Amino acid sequence: MSQKKLSVSGFSSLAIHAGHKQDPNYAHLTPIYACSTFVYDDAEQGMRRFSGEEKGYIYSRWGNPTFTEAEDKIAAMETFGINGSDGRPIELKAYLQASGMAAISTMFMSSLRTGDQVLSHYSLYGGTQEIMNTLLPELGMKGIIEDLRDLNRAEDALKKNPKIRMIYIETPANPTIQCVDIEELTILAKKYGKLVACDNTFATPYLQQPFKYGVDFVMHSTTKFLNGHGTAIGGVFLGKDVEFMNTHAYKVYKMIGGNSNPFDAFMLINGMKTLEVRMERHCHNATEVAAFLESHPAVSKVNYNGLQSHPDFFVAHKQMKHPGAMMSFELKKGLQGGIKFMNGLQLCTRTVSLGTCDTLLSHPASMTHFSVPKEQREKYGITDGLIRMSVGMENLQDIIADLDQALS
Ligand SMILES: Cc1ncc(COP(=O)(O)O)c(C=O)c1O
Repeated sequence: MSQKKLSVSGFSSLAIHAGHKQDPNYAHLTPIYACSTFVYDDAEQGMRRFSGEEKGYIYSRWGNPTFTEAEDKIAAMETFGINGSDGRPIELKAYLQASGMAAISTMFMSSLRTGDQVLSHYSLYGGTQEIMNTLLPELGMKGIIEDLRDLNRAEDALKKNPKIRMIYIETPANPTIQCVDIEELTILAKKYGKLVACDNTFATPYLQQPFKYGVDFVMHSTTKFLNGHGTAIGGVFLGKDVEFMNTHAYKVYKMIGGNSNPFDAFMLINGMKTLEVRMERHCHNATEVAAFLESHPAVSKVNYNGLQSHPDFFVAHKQMKHPGAMMSFELKKGLQGGIKFMNGLQLCTRTVSLGTCDTLLSHPASMTHFSVPKEQREKYGITDGLIRMSVGMENLQDIIADLDQALS
């Protein structure tokens, strides 16, 4: 299959064309290669494939043409316009995974060893936090949690714990929308010879490119903005040490078996083509919705990193093209106010998750964090009246009208 030589100056041109190879049957779109295995012309070809002498697909857990287009497209978006120290565009290797959690697990399993420690920020997606708190210790490793927005604390932790092998960040972070400074933390990590891994799910490569600052690995839950339509669970694990990614990381990827599937990869490829236009609309709507909520009498606080009142406004502004589409806000009337508000929504969607065309709202105290004791969740800022919102792409006036009627 031939691949177009791409020389484009715009992100959407890249998102639409990157990774695409001419299909042997001239299908416009890369087909869903729904097959578990690939055949050989003769035994010798099988031998060449298995020995690595000849490139080609063998078994879909190890790779599949539909995955490859999605992987190459994401790698192209994450490196768009970034040159390495030799002045040449940086190269990445990506593995498409069954979920964001599979991508994070494959990254940890391929780059950590027994005895290693991982330094991370206290605001993280719940599943990742559980890996840090439970799974790593069970495997003889340790997660160390700090406020990584404070570089002095980060450096103290590195000095005190020489076994730290990696700094793991998620920015903006779930659920607080806190941002850590990728550039400063990476400079610090490299001073101490540590790896840096960044979950870029909330921002997407259109808004933020962590490889620009020298991080080693990036992961996404592609379930969210990259897919953009809520049609599939998925993830991706990318690394800039291509030799490592092609050898040890590939071995671990194949052994863990957390690969994607051709149908989900197809949905993802087509969703990603509109990433720029979707993110522009999401972010525009979010900025206006945040301003509306900030002046609403029923709302006591809005957490949106595009508002000057947000403590990470300047960090977000420095490393993100726009502040994103995720926010949370607190209702003055607490738990009952939250339940009443959620029940009052007529257009926006009551659900968890994020990054789809429609506006999604959840009430952690009565939903995701219902079973977490109040004192414990409040430590992480999850108060009774907190509402989390992924601002969608509906017409702005309709989102605001729905929020307004539900608030009153
Ligand atoms: C920031 C972040 N990372 C990772 C994940 C896990 O992704 P998945 O549900 O696709 O496994 C999530 C899920 O919400 C997330 O928000």
